[in-house]
Amino acid sequence: METFHPIVWSGDAKSGHLKLLDQTRLPEEEVYLECRDVESVWHAIKRLSVRGAPAIGISAAYACVISAQSGGGEAALDFAAEYLATSRPTAVNLFWALGRMRGVRPADPDTLLAEAKKIHEEDKAMCLKIGVHGLGILKKLAEGSTERFGILTHCNAGALATGGIGTATAPIYMAHEEGVAIKVFADETRPLLQGARLTAFELFRAGVDVRIIADNMAGLVMREGKVGMVIVGADRIAHNGDTANKVGTYSVAVLAKHHGVPFYVAAPTSTFDLAIKDGSEIPIEQRASEEITHGFGRRTAPEGALVYNPAFDVTPAELITGIITDRGVISPVNAFNVDRAMRGE
Ligand code: MRU
Repeated sequence: METFHPIVWSGDAKSGHLKLLDQTRLPEEEVYLECRDVESVWHAIKRLSVRGAPAIGISAAYACVISAQSGGGEAALDFAAEYLATSRPTAVNLFWALGRMRGVRPADPDTLLAEAKKIHEEDKAMCLKIGVHGLGILKKLAEGSTERFGILTHCNAGALATGGIGTATAPIYMAHEEGVAIKVFADETRPLLQGARLTAFELFRAGVDVRIIADNMAGLVMREGKVGMVIVGADRIAHNGDTANKVGTYSVAVLAKHHGVPFYVAAPTSTFDLAIKDGSEIPIEQRASEEITHGFGRRTAPEGALVYNPAFDVTPAELITGIITDRGVISPVNAFNVDRAMRGE
């Protein structure tokens, strides 16, 4: 399956650098940022040049390699990891990946690069496993459907957000490859349009039947009977299954419940945070007001207008039909079943 490579390590461990596909410029331009210091990776994460929970973690892991190139060893690694951890607060994959990198000894570029590549490869493999588990559910739900089976997704939990074929998109790509008749509705995902700019871009390029809808159309397409399943990604999943994902996900889950549409979250084990009991403890990133007031490259709100701009919301476990992980599907979603899945049962 041909896919995107949003994160590329170029060169050897001691003098190589990180190349990140600048997602702020998609879909118009496919340009790579060349990151040769930790600061440029931090900024790339902060301004969403690289985004999506797994991709943020992988990029930070490679940034740790760069931190050791000047010979600073453990001290330089620890300093860089602390700094990278301040880039974005919600996606737990960032802290998970930094924790793994900080445990690497000796903290030299070769050993760190081997670990970063392992994290990258593992994520790719987890996407495939999520795809297999999700495809089973998708095919069962699509059985007997006389029209193309409708799947709604929100934001981008695709190849651009991971080291592989995505989380929410993995079953979609696999269904498409198998010739299952599907039709994807991609919420455009205000304010930064990850659905329109990124999800529609990558699915369209893969030949998947995808149409973009404005976020406020999700209820309508469900009422019209066009959606048989919702699949979204996750930035952090609490022990009880409460899930933080791109703002707007919660509204989609409520709409899905009302219309009797199964609502699935797809996420690798690296997105679970078992240290926190429920979603109320998940730190939610607040972003700049300009993302709302200057949405389309021009002012779209009155000067001085106040803004509330949380980047994520939390969908309570009871609204989630199942969480599709690389270790199987968690359903019903509760702490007991999360523990079982994490133990690989
Ligand atoms: O702000 P973003 O673009 O990083 O938000 C991304 C999401 O909310 C994704 O759905 C999530 O990170 C999962 S990516 C596999």
